[in-house]
Amino acid sequence: MSALAELYKTISACEACDELARTRTRTVPGAGAENAQIVFIGEAPGFHEDQQGLPFVGQAGQFLDHLLATIGLGRGDVYICNVIKCRPPGNRDPLPTEIKNCQQWLDKQLDLILPKMIVTLGRYSLSQFFPGESISKIHGKARKIDNRIYYPMYHPAAALHQQSLRQTIEADMLKIPSILASNEEVQEEESKPQQLSMF
Ligand code: URA
Repeated sequence: MSALAELYKTISACEACDELARTRTRTVPGAGAENAQIVFIGEAPGFHEDQQGLPFVGQAGQFLDHLLATIGLGRGDVYICNVIKCRPPGNRDPLPTEIKNCQQWLDKQLDLILPKMIVTLGRYSLSQFFPGESISKIHGKARKIDNRIYYPMYHPAAALHQQSLRQTIEADMLKIPSILASNEEVQEEESKPQQLSMF
């Protein structure tokens, strides 16, 4: 069993958040290539993800598949996960304590996959790495810290609710291949991403 598969097993037994552990059908650790260059990080599982134990399998996931296809990629080429590994009941926003409890799993996943690029999808994922920054200002702008590229994007579900964002998300996605290819040209920043310093 791979180290990532072992981690999934451990995550499936997690009871750090009482309510989430009680109400979930399955944990949704993540899926995709274990040596992916790009990791996409969303917010939290919804209804369908909770049923299937897989990330982004609902409507937002279909749009994410479409976005990936526009740059010639499929799910097997990347890794997709969420900040939170259990569905918040009724799809409510994740609580700060839940985000904090779940942080260890995301850290371990990134340590195992060692991606070149992290794409944050939506504001919860963005604030894991860049708390206090506004997605409307920094989406589509790559930053390099400790030799890893961070690339904030709007959440795919945002395009489903707000048609005007669709083109923005599509345009941001189309920039990914050239950012990865010109890795050396993305200027390195000094500060580390401040994971969860807001909590
Ligand atoms: N939205 C997310 O943020 N993650 C999923 O897995 C599905 C929908």
